Amino acid sequence: MGKSQNVYDNEIFFEGYKEIRKQENNYNILQEQPAIKSLLPDLKGKRILDLGCGYGESCSYFIEKGAQKVVGIDISKKMLEVAEKENSHMNIEYLEESMDDIDKLSGKFDIVYSSLALHYIEDFKKLLMGINNLLSEDGLFIYSQEHPLSTAHEKGQRWTRDENGMGAHYNLANYMESGKREVTWFINGVIKYHRTFSEIINTVNECGFQIEKILEPLPSEEDIKLIPKMVQDFHKPNFLILRAGKK
Ligand SMILES: C[S@@+](CC[C@H](N)C(=O)[O-])C[C@H]1O[C@@H](n2cnc3c(N)ncnc32)[C@H](O)[C@@H]1O
Repeated sequence: MGKSQNVYDNEIFFEGYKEIRKQENNYNILQEQPAIKSLLPDLKGKRILDLGCGYGESCSYFIEKGAQKVVGIDISKKMLEVAEKENSHMNIEYLEESMDDIDKLSGKFDIVYSSLALHYIEDFKKLLMGINNLLSEDGLFIYSQEHPLSTAHEKGQRWTRDENGMGAHYNLANYMESGKREVTWFINGVIKYHRTFSEIINTVNECGFQIEKILEPLPSEEDIKLIPKMVQDFHKPNFLILRAGKK
């Protein structure tokens, strides 16, 4: 299987992504982050590995909540530069590594965490086996990814829209065809990997985990006031978020 693309180091992509993350309200802030953070246990004294840590915002959060040691890895130099600048701490170590090379990492962690990065990885099974190896005996794996109903998409219009431009039906196609997707997000040719829901759940199980909780967050009424198009999320979730313990 191939190596991951490092799209966050593309100048145009990096700037586009930065604009979204600068917004006061966005899908991360309103939906994904509260949901994934709700799955974390008490972090006091915990050793945490953050895969695809990006700007390092979660790494800082873990330290604020009492984590003893945090390691953040990311494939992108540009993302790590921001992390070093904005979220450095004596107990956070940032490493420029690809999740494809998880077997290069050593040590044991109480929690392996990853927010919206695992859909960039082709070899899901290898990654999950590597995560399992890095976890302490009663360790936890907590991650979010783009929902499989989203990653299925490759071309054409995602939505059939009503007269107000609001999504009335989601146009699902090729859901049962797992594998590479090349999509346009800021630039053409952004590579992600689609896996069906059953493939994700079965792989997590087969790699030595016991699934404890799965979340598909919905917007609140307040969220919809802030971002009206979130009403579409009642047709299709955006995120799949999972917490699993080591078996
Ligand atoms: C959507 S961003 C999320 C960043 C961060 N987890 C957060 O929640 O703010 C995805 C991150 O995954 C990183 N990434 C993508 N492929 C990767 C790989 N193969 N190994 C390590 N990091 C990767 C990207 O560089 C990017 O920083």
